[in-house]
Amino acid sequence: MDQQSPSDARYLHGYSAEEQARLVEQAEYWREGLILPDLPYIAGERLLDVGCGSGAVLGVINSAFPGLQLAGIDREPRQIEAASRHLAALGAPSVDLRVGDANRLPWAQGSFDHAYLMWFVEHVRGIEPILREIRRVLRPGGTITINETEYESYHVWPEHEDWEYLEGAMFRHFQAHGEAHAGRRLGPLLVEAGFSRVSNRLVGAHFFVGSGDDSLARHTRYTADYIEPAIPEFVAMGYDESRLRRGLGHLLAIHADPHGAFTQLVYRARAWA
Ligand SMILES: C[S@@+](CC[C@H](N)C(=O)[O-])C[C@H]1O[C@@H](n2cnc3c(N)ncnc32)[C@H](O)[C@@H]1O
Repeated sequence: MDQQSPSDARYLHGYSAEEQARLVEQAEYWREGLILPDLPYIAGERLLDVGCGSGAVLGVINSAFPGLQLAGIDREPRQIEAASRHLAALGAPSVDLRVGDANRLPWAQGSFDHAYLMWFVEHVRGIEPILREIRRVLRPGGTITINETEYESYHVWPEHEDWEYLEGAMFRHFQAHGEAHAGRRLGPLLVEAGFSRVSNRLVGAHFFVGSGDDSLARHTRYTADYIEPAIPEFVAMGYDESRLRRGLGHLLAIHADPHGAFTQLVYRARAWA
């Protein structure tokens, strides 16, 4: 049984070994399409992953850019323990992993050439001071890259009212405890935090029956794998469990519908300190 600590009381996904392994699979899933494109990294540079979780994204970056000096921070000790095991198993050279709050990064001004954030902003209420803190630890001219989604952008075909009910529960959780519109808001947030040359590109995700591969089934399975463990949290918010489960069942069935399709907005922001 996974033990709860005060810091994960409202962290939707929890810190079980299964969830830590899911983060590693998730980073592999997004490796080519989202994590690695257009990264301007050079061997010897220093990179900080904020909200690094179980080290999944650091592992992907390390394999594509050997020779970077990597660091990561997460407020949850179990994530940092998992990250250190994962990165050691990959043979990543010594990674500076710390337990701590991203609001107070334990590094001096200008310590890094690059910062990387993935599926992190969505879990934070009030990201502005964290972005300013990240700019502080970047050297002038260093980069920040952020990958994010938003929680009212998941569209299924055929439509289904129980799926909309489930998506509404997820949206309201992130509205109350994080940033439900993370992806859409990144550009102005980075500008306000003092970054320059800010871009925010819509990557998107769209899959449909008949595309000639199993991408729709894979993506809906991947999506269900992080929604299903969150159902107890939605029930605690007052949602009806059987409707939530019917919504999830619909998501998992659309790949068998001759007109099945799924769309989700994903954004990739880049800016310079
Ligand atoms: C969804 S996980 C993403 C992990 C990783 N970026 C990835 O894509 O695999 C979000 C992580 O952010 C961490 N986190 C949330 N708020 C934080 C904060 N204020 N300071 C440090 N870490 C935080 C959580 O503990 C969690 O491990």
